[in-house]
Amino acid sequence: MSKMEVKTSLLDNMIGVGDMVLLEPLSEETFIGNLRKRFEHNEIYTYIGSVVISMNPYKSLPIYTADKVEEYRNRNFYELSPHIYALADEAYRSLRDQDKDQCILITGESGAGKTEASKLVMSYVAAVCGKGQEVNKVKEQLLQSNPVLEAFGNAKTVRNDNSSRFGKYMDIEFDFKGDPLGGVISNYLLEKSRVVKQPRGERNFHIFYQLLSGASEDTLKKLKLDRDFSKYNYLSLDSATVNGLDDAANFRTVRNAMQIVGFMEDEVQSVLELVAAVLKLGNIEFKPESRVNGFDESRVKDKNDLKEMCELLGIEQSVLERAFSYRTVEAKMEKVSTTLNVAQAYYARDALAKNLYSRLFSWLVTRINESIKAQTKSRKKVMGVLDIYGFEIFEDNSFEQFIINYCNEKLQQIFIELTLREEQEEYVREGIEWTNIEYFNNAVICDLIENNQNGILAMLDEECLRPGTVTDDTFLDKLNTVCAEHQHFESRLSKNSKFLTDHSLPHSCFRIQHYAGKVLYRVEGFVDKNNDLLYRDLSQAMYKANHSLMKLLFPEGNPAKVNLKRPPTAGSQFRASVGTLMKNLQTKNPNYIRCIKPNDKKACQVFTDSLVCHQVRYLGLMENVRVRRAGYAFRQAYEPCLERYKMLCKQTWPHWKGPARQGVEVLLKDLEVPEEEFAYGRSKIFIRNPRTLFFLEERRRQCLEDLATLIQKIYRGWKCRTHFLLLKKSQVVVAAWYRRYAQQQKYQKIKSSSIVVQSYIRGWKARKILRELKYQKRCKEAVTTIAAYWHGTQARRELKRLKEEARRKHAVAVIWAYWLGLKVRREYRKFFRANAGKKIYDFTIQKIMQKYFIGLKNTMPSMSPIDKTWPARPYLFLDGTHQELRRIFHLWRCKKYRSQFTEEKKAIYEEKLEASEIFKDKKALYPSSVGQPFKGDYLEINKNPKYQKLNSVMDEKVLLADVVNKINRANGKGASRIFLLTKKNFVLADQKTGQVKASVPLPDLNSVSVSTQSDGFFALKLKEGTPSAAKGDFLLSSDRLIEIITKLHRTGEASADRDPISVDISDEFLVQFKQDKVCVKFIQAGPKNGNSVACKRKNNRLLEVSVPSP
Ligand SMILES: Nc1ncnc2c1ncn2[C@@H]1O[C@H](COP(=O)(O)OP(=O)(O)OP(=O)(O)O)[C@@H](O)[C@H]1O
Ligand SMILES: [Mg+2]
Repeated sequence: MSKMEVKTSLLDNMIGVGDMVLLEPLSEETFIGNLRKRFEHNEIYTYIGSVVISMNPYKSLPIYTADKVEEYRNRNFYELSPHIYALADEAYRSLRDQDKDQCILITGESGAGKTEASKLVMSYVAAVCGKGQEVNKVKEQLLQSNPVLEAFGNAKTVRNDNSSRFGKYMDIEFDFKGDPLGGVISNYLLEKSRVVKQPRGERNFHIFYQLLSGASEDTLKKLKLDRDFSKYNYLSLDSATVNGLDDAANFRTVRNAMQIVGFMEDEVQSVLELVAAVLKLGNIEFKPESRVNGFDESRVKDKNDLKEMCELLGIEQSVLERAFSYRTVEAKMEKVSTTLNVAQAYYARDALAKNLYSRLFSWLVTRINESIKAQTKSRKKVMGVLDIYGFEIFEDNSFEQFIINYCNEKLQQIFIELTLREEQEEYVREGIEWTNIEYFNNAVICDLIENNQNGILAMLDEECLRPGTVTDDTFLDKLNTVCAEHQHFESRLSKNSKFLTDHSLPHSCFRIQHYAGKVLYRVEGFVDKNNDLLYRDLSQAMYKANHSLMKLLFPEGNPAKVNLKRPPTAGSQFRASVGTLMKNLQTKNPNYIRCIKPNDKKACQVFTDSLVCHQVRYLGLMENVRVRRAGYAFRQAYEPCLERYKMLCKQTWPHWKGPARQGVEVLLKDLEVPEEEFAYGRSKIFIRNPRTLFFLEERRRQCLEDLATLIQKIYRGWKCRTHFLLLKKSQVVVAAWYRRYAQQQKYQKIKSSSIVVQSYIRGWKARKILRELKYQKRCKEAVTTIAAYWHGTQARRELKRLKEEARRKHAVAVIWAYWLGLKVRREYRKFFRANAGKKIYDFTIQKIMQKYFIGLKNTMPSMSPIDKTWPARPYLFLDGTHQELRRIFHLWRCKKYRSQFTEEKKAIYEEKLEASEIFKDKKALYPSSVGQPFKGDYLEINKNPKYQKLNSVMDEKVLLADVVNKINRANGKGASRIFLLTKKNFVLADQKTGQVKASVPLPDLNSVSVSTQSDGFFALKLKEGTPSAAKGDFLLSSDRLIEIITKLHRTGEASADRDPISVDISDEFLVQFKQDKVCVKFIQAGPKNGNSVACKRKNNRLLEVSVPSP
């Protein structure tokens, strides 16, 4: 066994024993002692095998933190100290991993901590299951459904400040991954009598107080409510406020939760309206009104509350008022209306309030289900959590306790069925040796209650449906007859005479020996509560209400669906729903949480032995331990067992060829598990001790770890190898590239070094050669210099010598000449006169002059006046003569030239001369006219027969005949005209016909105006007052302007009787056109405008002539 020692925290530092199976010796005292010991050390959880016992600590313990959740997550059930989280984890994992639907059955007395336990389970599952936006929303909705249901279904009782007054079963649905998808809630039998009446020290449902304390003034006003609890008959006053319960804050929590769950704002409003309506309903009071027939008829006392309630629900006041006074009974298609007395009216009012509230509660559950419904249709895994009222034994037990205890009886039966009986039966089935354990099977009690023929519920129903007078006493009589023989039924008046003297058994009561103890039920109200009647008039009135919820809540009020069949009784309804629940639970793997309440005072650290002992007994915990200890803790079919643990043994790993059972045998032998620890069943292996299983699990975990390590090892090896190969490959590439690069660098270095060396050598060589060459050059230069100096010296010496020689020769010659002269003079003195020197000088001059003139004659230039050549002067002293001769020669040459001219030619030149005087340097057109001869009669009028007619008009010699352009005064365009000039007048005639257009005597001509530019425009201005001036001045244009004007000018000069015509040269002049004076303005045109002169009439007063720039 030593090998199997595994460190478990369940056993470590254990206070008492963590698992009751380990308790030694086992007795009720030791059992309770163990519970107490643990409780005192705040160890509130203890196992019996896989069942968790939970003691209510009545204080908050630090064992529900996130760290704790992590601690218990994915851990073996027996691995850590007992905790509700271990159970939740086990259930969740086997749901997720083994695909087994689970149910968690939480049972115990009121106040034992069932609801808290269910919330702990839910919050644990929420913490460990998947995460994500959608999943979180689902979780949040599931968790937030609790505060809503608690507000409407929980109330303060003497036993529990937050007692669930309804049974709740919630299926949480998961997908294949274990992520929550949604849920379904079923509710069981709300304790609706609480709405109208609460026992002393207890309160109505929380929501009434929460609404009044927490709602805003505005909301209260809308709901027509007052904050003061004492205003409402249905709210008991003695414990309206509960210590540690903040109703106002809880109201906000509830509203927030409703919003998270998915209630619309108007839905919340409708719900609150209904709650308010219930409160209002309680305030409606009745008074009797005597009728003629002697009966009292009820009337509403103060109609204000009725009115406000009707307004809240949208009911017509009169309809409801009538429903409180009359009752219509339909029998065989006949309607009979009977009046209600005050008591009946109160009964009807309370029935309505109870129905209204309980139907609202059921609607809330349906509405929440709608919100939390799973969105997928695919197969879901389910975890059910059942939190249902615990067994109730009060002093005064009524129909409700009967029903509740029946439910607990059924749950106990399931427990027994699934754990004890099932276990024993399985041992038998598997052929395992088993010492039978005596246990109490409560099926017989269930049968007493639910048997269809003679069960108590069936009797009650029968009695309710029976015609004739039916009272609670007739029902008891019936029981006394039918159930008298039943060993668990006790009644004073039953046929079984043994109770006749039992004074603890009053006459109006019956007692049932439940598995948990004896309970005395008072029959009063059984029939009524089972009938659960609401007068049809009331349900019809409700159906008519103009309110969104009322039609849904009171469908039977629909007159179209009048159903004479009685609705099922409360008892049969409950029996049916319990039946469904049981069936549901049977399909699931059960997990048990047994809640125990340590004391009656809601106090922490107080452990009342008798109270705990009572609970331990009726929960059957002792029996549970006994069975556990006698049997085997764990069993599993051979195949999955082998599959699960085959890796623990070499023979079975990886494949076992033979039958599974043999495989398991080999496996266990190999693992040296002691033989008493297990037994081989027919299809299953049974393991006695949980720790053996844990040992196997632990070994498996280690083995899995080893396997994982192996896989990791191989994978890592492969990864590293691949990585290494890649690195190696890369390294080769990198190295190759690097070598190439290094060699390149080296080569470049060598190359550049060799270039440097080369250049140094070449430089050195070059410098050497240069030095040599320079030396040679210097030598050559030195030689040359020396030679030059030498030659210079020689030459200078020679020159000096020659000069000396010449001087000497000259001196000799001079001396000689002087001497000769002297000799001659001496010789010839006698022959010469005294003034002979002057004659010789004159003769010499004469000779020179002769020579000059003869030379000049031979080199004379040509006779052309434009020839500018002249021979050079031979002697300086002749300079003046030479220039004068040149001038004279030119004048003579010109005269000679002129003398050749004829008279005609002379006249022409005179004209030319005159033209030059008038225009030279004044008009740009002038230079172009210099080369052109002034021909005068260009048209040859006399010879041209075309102008015969014109010629005949002219009696004088024509000085000039040419075609000119007459400028149109209006638009500046030109028209061709023949211009004739004679000595006396000028004529303008048509070019084609020769017809005279104008003939002006020259004396009438005052002046001529021309521009300075190269154009041919000229204006002939007439003297004012002359007849010719009537038509205005002439503006003409001609290329021969220079000739025309010159000739005009000359005619004036020639005649003695008049002044010569003045010529004005200006770029702007005035011309008289008929009446107007027009300014003719000449401007230089840009190169764009082409080469022609353009004349444009700009306005009345301006004629613009643009002349191309030269
Ligand atoms: N684990 C716990 N830790 C601390 N306090 C607890 C715990 N369980 C229960 N309680 C306290 O006990 C009170 C009653 O618990 P709970 O409402 O769960 O009882 P119940 O079994 O559901 O009763 P009923 O049948 O009346 O609904 C709780 O309000 C809480 O104060
Ligand atoms: Mg509860």
